[in-house]
Amino acid sequence: MPSFWQQLAKPILALAPMEGYTDSAFRLLAREQGADVVYTEFVSSDAIAHRGKTALAKLTFDPAEQPVVAQIFGRDPAAFVTAAKEIERRGFAGLDLNFGCPARKVIGSGAGVALLRDPQYARRLIESVLDVLTIPLSIKIRASIRAERREVAPDTEQRHTALDLIEAIRDLPVATVMVHGRSFEQGFSGGLDVEMIRAVKQRFPGLVLANGGLRTVEDVEHLLTATGADGVGLARGALGCPWLFRQIRAYLSGRDVPELSWPEIRAVAERHARQAVAAKGGRGLTELRKHLAHYATGQPRAATLRARLVRAATLDDVRRTLAEVTVHA
Ligand SMILES: Cc1cc2nc3c(=O)[nH]c(=O)nc-3n(C[C@H](O)[C@H](O)[C@H](O)COP(=O)(O)O)c2cc1C
Repeated sequence: MPSFWQQLAKPILALAPMEGYTDSAFRLLAREQGADVVYTEFVSSDAIAHRGKTALAKLTFDPAEQPVVAQIFGRDPAAFVTAAKEIERRGFAGLDLNFGCPARKVIGSGAGVALLRDPQYARRLIESVLDVLTIPLSIKIRASIRAERREVAPDTEQRHTALDLIEAIRDLPVATVMVHGRSFEQGFSGGLDVEMIRAVKQRFPGLVLANGGLRTVEDVEHLLTATGADGVGLARGALGCPWLFRQIRAYLSGRDVPELSWPEIRAVAERHARQAVAAKGGRGLTELRKHLAHYATGQPRAATLRARLVRAATLDDVRRTLAEVTVHA
């Protein structure tokens, strides 16, 4: 049976994983606004294996979000296997392994982007998960990471690249790879290694999603053309702007790009707030504040609006603030 990935029309527009942001409410909104597939924030495979409450709470979704891909990070094959089974049991459409996170606490334990330094170990992790999984597996990687000092002669700059990892795993049935075109050392800013994404696309037999720095419809078109990728992953570009997915789809198919008026943006923000509260109650509203700040960006009196939205304690506060600003704008 072809996996859901194969059934998506190209170019595939994905909501990339973002810890603290791509929760159920935002994923649902992204799907309503044109994303083809959405990723959860990363969840620790060790925490899932230990039945940690917070981790398991992140593995919930609304069926209307489907296809949803759950992302895990870690390094222990046994924990990966347990987590993979749990994710499959919960009905996720796919599982994604994080080989790209640069956070100190993650790479300190040899997980995330640190796994780019050991393609054979990464391969073993993938193999152990593939042994137990029937839903499609994907991975998310970065363009490169510098080799550790002990690996190379002094004063030489040697890098482990996305392509090295792809060469090590390209015979395995991995459905999709999302490549964040920045190196570990770049973190979250700076230009993309477009050539690296392109090289991955040429060597990897599955689907390739290009990721990094996509903020406008033109950015997406340029990156797709430059890399030949099958689609893109949007992360920060979708914050406060989930309709970017719809705009990209319109632009790429030659239609007029819909621009949203403030009342339309306000309606999306309100819907987001309602969904956040429905999914998580009062905690949902607290977590929503940073999203609300993004919706305010670029609006008249954005600073005032943002300051008031982040103090909103109830759904009504959010509604009232959005409405008042509309009246006075
Ligand atoms: C706040 C934040 C949280 C993120 N969390 C994750 C995560 O959980 N898993 C992951 O693979 N990438 C994560 N990323 C990386 C994004 O998926 C993406 O690769 C990166 O932000 C580059 O894309 P952008 O320039 O469009 O934001 C995160 C990025 C940000 C800004």
